[in-house]
Amino acid sequence: MYNIREYQDSHVSVLVNETVNYLITKKDGIYVDCTAGEGGHIKAICEFCEDQAKVIGLDIDFEVLQIAENKLKEHLNNIKLIKAPYQDIDIVLTGLGIEKVDGFLMDLGVSTFQLKGENRGFSFSKDEPLDMRMDSESQITAADIINNYPLEKLRQIIFEYGEEKKYAHKIAKSIVRNRPINSTLELVDAIRKALPTSEIYKRKTHFATKTFQAIRIEVNNELKNLEEVLYKFEKFLKKNGRVVIITFHSLEDRIVKNFFKNNKSYNFITIKPILPSENEKKRNPRSRSAKLRIAEFIGTD
Ligand SMILES: C[S@@+](CC[C@H](N)C(=O)[O-])C[C@H]1O[C@@H](n2cnc3c(N)ncnc32)[C@H](O)[C@@H]1O
Repeated sequence: MYNIREYQDSHVSVLVNETVNYLITKKDGIYVDCTAGEGGHIKAICEFCEDQAKVIGLDIDFEVLQIAENKLKEHLNNIKLIKAPYQDIDIVLTGLGIEKVDGFLMDLGVSTFQLKGENRGFSFSKDEPLDMRMDSESQITAADIINNYPLEKLRQIIFEYGEEKKYAHKIAKSIVRNRPINSTLELVDAIRKALPTSEIYKRKTHFATKTFQAIRIEVNNELKNLEEVLYKFEKFLKKNGRVVIITFHSLEDRIVKNFFKNNKSYNFITIKPILPSENEKKRNPRSRSAKLRIAEFIGTD
């Protein structure tokens, strides 16, 4: 079990003021943070609403929720933190006897604890077992995918989820050739062997970034879960309730944008997504690729 006191490198939440300003339509409303993480956005919501709001926070990572509970101890009277997948939001809200809420928040991606915590296998900067599960109770790990998926399925994942358009086939072939691959650095090595040296130096981000993203998305079923939950919000939203979503790559952003664009029950509050300021990007490099979209539910309650 993780010890909170040993974890120093706290998650810096992204687009916090913007999230709160667009999400909160009334201070004594009910808000759901579908990706509570370390509780940074929830804390901001509680403070902005002067502890008048009720906040439900969901996360699939039990350890991360423990950090959130610690961070939010002054506000716990108004918060309910629940270990549950956001795609079960209907079951959770019905179970709590909540019929309607004023807003849903999603801050997709990985928390700092998951990236930097021990033995989670999300990062290519240290040697760890290939895990990458956000929910430690789920069955499939990165090692299962890397060592058992057939070449074509691996190629497809790296191509689609990693957007590794040119080298997906070569990387998949190198992974298959180098099996068994048991650690993050062994995976980095297999990726390195697939790429020309010039490509390794040319890239702005680490050459393993895209493949790691692809495997993480597959392990956690991230895109399918996102598609599933978007359909569930409207049943629980009050008229003029908001959905605020922060994405970190174009695959997620496309799903969010197209869903709300094609759904007549919603209006976009801003046509273009909100991006972090230059100042925020400097302060928190993780925010660089963030995009925030806000949709308003215009159906009746
Ligand atoms: C970027 S972090 C959220 C950080 C948080 N907003 C903060 O300010 O501390 C994303 C979180 O989403 C969680 N998550 C990913 N998939 C999920 C799912 N299907 N259901 C619930 N939580 C999920 C991850 O475990 C992670 O903690």
